[in-house]
Amino acid sequence: MDDRPLGIFDSGVGGLTVCKAIRDLLPSENIIYFGDTLRFPYGTRSIDTVIRYSREITDYLASRGVKMIVVACNTSSAAALEVLKKDYPLPIIGVIEAGARAACARASGGTVGVIGTRATVNSGSYVREIHRLSPGMNVVQRHATIFVSLTEEGWIDDEITRLAARRYLQEMYDGGVRNLILGCTHFPLLKKAIADVFPDLDLIDTGIEIAREVSTILKEKSLENRGGHGDIELYASDLTDTIQRLKSVFFGDNGSEIKKLVIPG
Ligand code: DGL
Repeated sequence: MDDRPLGIFDSGVGGLTVCKAIRDLLPSENIIYFGDTLRFPYGTRSIDTVIRYSREITDYLASRGVKMIVVACNTSSAAALEVLKKDYPLPIIGVIEAGARAACARASGGTVGVIGTRATVNSGSYVREIHRLSPGMNVVQRHATIFVSLTEEGWIDDEITRLAARRYLQEMYDGGVRNLILGCTHFPLLKKAIADVFPDLDLIDTGIEIAREVSTILKEKSLENRGGHGDIELYASDLTDTIQRLKSVFFGDNGSEIKKLVIPG
């Protein structure tokens, strides 16, 4: 039994979808979540900047004695995961591998679609990972940047979001994509709007996939915290309305509060 916390980080609010999925699957684990709302978004920044931010947050989480780090942010996973894995002596996992693995297992027609931020798409990380797992797979990807703003605005079940879904995804759909990786932490919140437009599209939620992977790794390495009720500590570098709202949506108003924490750069 190991009651050290899991560390989870993201560029902002979206990683709460991952945090919630991990919490639901592993309720006895203690969690420290950090959302970098002050420096959000990461998806439009350079790779070097995303690596620097990701290192600073990893330093903080490591200093808190976490037993494992989950890079919930797709953009950080795409840009920084390999560097972090090399530089820190603890298990660190990112969402891309988990999403790619699920897509390869589920893709029926030999084609997988990926949507994410511009930085994630430009990094080619999903394409590389899918080809490593399934060399013959056809991968079609495109950035869906406006989905991030629509989610932040709270337009989750809204006509404008359905229009954006059609605009971003129709071509992929017509090209035969039926399995789509939601390669950005915000996108699982838009599952209903996307499904309204494309009901037979299989939407791959990387938060759910990585929660399963965390569970497997904790078991394999005997790091589980069995029994007891896990605590969640939530931190953000700026206490924006959006993070307060989403925190209430996911964790209610009676649980832990979000505290402000600015990580020294
Ligand atoms: N967490 C980011 C991601 O998954 C959200 C978008 C951003 O920071 O630009 O890519």
